[in-house]
Amino acid sequence: MITLSIESSCDDTSLALFNNTTLLGVKTASQNQIHQAFGGVVPELAARAHNQNILPLYYELMSEFNFTIKDIELIVVTYAPGLIGSLLVGVEFAKTLSIINNIPLKKVHHLAGHLHAAHITQEVPYPFLGVVVSGGHTNIFIVEDIDKYRLVGYSLDDAAGEAFDKVAKMCNLGYPGGPIIDKLAQKYTKSEKIAFPRPMRNSTELHFSFSGLKTAVSTYLKNNPDYDVERVAASFQDAVIDSLFEKIKRAANEYNMSNIVISGGVAANSLLRKYISEQLPTHNIYLPSLKYCMDNGAMIGYIGVKLYEKYGADDPHSIHPKATETL
Ligand code: KG4
Ligand code: ZN
Repeated sequence: MITLSIESSCDDTSLALFNNTTLLGVKTASQNQIHQAFGGVVPELAARAHNQNILPLYYELMSEFNFTIKDIELIVVTYAPGLIGSLLVGVEFAKTLSIINNIPLKKVHHLAGHLHAAHITQEVPYPFLGVVVSGGHTNIFIVEDIDKYRLVGYSLDDAAGEAFDKVAKMCNLGYPGGPIIDKLAQKYTKSEKIAFPRPMRNSTELHFSFSGLKTAVSTYLKNNPDYDVERVAASFQDAVIDSLFEKIKRAANEYNMSNIVISGGVAANSLLRKYISEQLPTHNIYLPSLKYCMDNGAMIGYIGVKLYEKYGADDPHSIHPKATETL
């Protein structure tokens, strides 16, 4: 079964092609250059760019495999959550293709996609502790099956990726901040770090909070105008990873989970990847390949095919984008 999948919930337009659950190819149009000047995603500009990018991207991907729309047997699209204007572009594109060509359509929740990004390249057994750490989300789920999710931890304020982006903006480093801070932190080889706070670290709850840390960095920068940016990056990153690690470990113990999936853009962080695997040697840690950590059409396609196989298609007329929607 040849499937076309579409992701447009934030600032990446990304389309993928699958043969059953085997990924054939993925193409992504990034908008980083557009949003860089603002230090974060500007929703109206994101929607306009999706609108410009989606059709050329579709033709580019299809022509690479010599496919026409007649070859497509299933279409999968992200319908929620995300920026409404961005979601609208992908959903309307998918609905149009589906209705005009009479192709089954399956809707997918964006976080279900992230939680299955590791499955694209490896076998991951259920149940697993599914952690999504991205620009919009910091959540811990118990994932019992392709359609059974229980939210057990979440951020009370900023998402982890958002904190990376905001700290990078404060230091005038550019957007997105995560990869820039990751690289700068690697350059800082001294052991002496700034003692930034680890909010919620010692609470027994499985929730996170990153806004206090962001404020602590802002205060430090104001009080130390000649700050060492590599030291700030390394110290801030340590604080985020410490906070994430503590809750992941606690959740895995509390729910007796030996399989752990870490996904979302922040799962691309080199220290996080290394630290979690080193610190939890008796657990099975599943990390998506770097290219599937960030928003992409492949993760949406994988879980869309699985859901379609189990439940069949959705009525295209009943699919509407939603800015907020629980998994
Ligand atoms: O999953 P994603 O592409 O979009 C959302 O669904 O939000 O995640 C983007 C986020 C951004 O906040 C970005 O700064 C962060 O992931 N990110 C990283 C790294 N690469 C991307 N954060 C830390 N370290 C990285 N290497
Ligand atoms: Zn995402």
